[in-house]
Amino acid sequence: MDHIPVLLSEVVLGFEGVPLKVFFDGTVGAGGHAAAILEAHPEITHYLACDRDETSLAMAKERLKPWWEKVEWIFGPFADIERYLKERKIGSIDGFLIDIGVSSMQLDDLSRGFSFRGDAFLDMRMDRSRGETAADLIARLREDELARIFFEYGEEFRSRAAAKAIVTARKKRAIETTKELLSVLEPVLRKGKIHFATKVFQALRIAVNDELGQLKQGLDGAISHLSFGGRLAVISFHSLEDRIVKWRIKEDPHLEVLHKKPLEASLEECKKNPRARSAKLRIAKKV
Ligand SMILES: C[S@@+](CC[C@H](N)C(=O)[O-])C[C@H]1O[C@@H](n2cnc3c(N)ncnc32)[C@H](O)[C@@H]1O
Repeated sequence: MDHIPVLLSEVVLGFEGVPLKVFFDGTVGAGGHAAAILEAHPEITHYLACDRDETSLAMAKERLKPWWEKVEWIFGPFADIERYLKERKIGSIDGFLIDIGVSSMQLDDLSRGFSFRGDAFLDMRMDRSRGETAADLIARLREDELARIFFEYGEEFRSRAAAKAIVTARKKRAIETTKELLSVLEPVLRKGKIHFATKVFQALRIAVNDELGQLKQGLDGAISHLSFGGRLAVISFHSLEDRIVKWRIKEDPHLEVLHKKPLEASLEECKKNPRARSAKLRIAKKV
């Protein structure tokens, strides 16, 4: 399925009236938000389009063909924004957007191991050129470390039982595929409205990609380089991320928070795109 950008009009409105010259898009993905922003802001001269997934960047390159002369592609994590700006001798940016989490393309490509719907190697890396896979973490981490990850990142109440089952099973045989992990978890996790492995899979994905560390470092870098009057917009998909964004922007004396409550998708948008149901958008202005 093609990736449908969430909260698209809300993002565009968030930058309305702001003269944007240099824009940093940390999660360009399939280029949906990027196309709308470039369309609405012909004054943009330099659009830095960053993604740590080469497949996403390739899609964005197709989508953003009309603006190629303005776009610069960055393959890497947005947390390294400071370095990217320094290398390019860019002092400040006028707009910053991140739309974090996995894309539909990543979830739907069952071979990548993000989803429990297929049977694939437990990879889960957004950037397949470096770092540990989910299978590596499952093989390496201690039982208490696994339990902490499942509890903190997945809010899984049976985190200890899940970690114990994994450690017992891996003594006999390495757990390397989504199906193998499911069969280890099934006897110990509760069956309810959502698939029993949803939370453990989410937790592993967050750990593999250091998603919370990325968010904190990326926000710090962006805020310190935002020009006066410049804006930053963050779309997040779960409470852990939203809490980080909320407090980081609220406590910064140089930022004005534009909406007290995060913006959420309308019922109509959620019907068309179920992924939008948990999306929260926060926007702040540098003052
Ligand atoms: C939800 S999609 C973004 C969709 C995009 N806004 C659009 O309109 O098509 C998330 C994208 O962010 C990328 N991503 C997630 N975390 C990242 C990070 N820390 N650094 C760079 N890219 C990241 C993923 O690879 C994925 O392509």
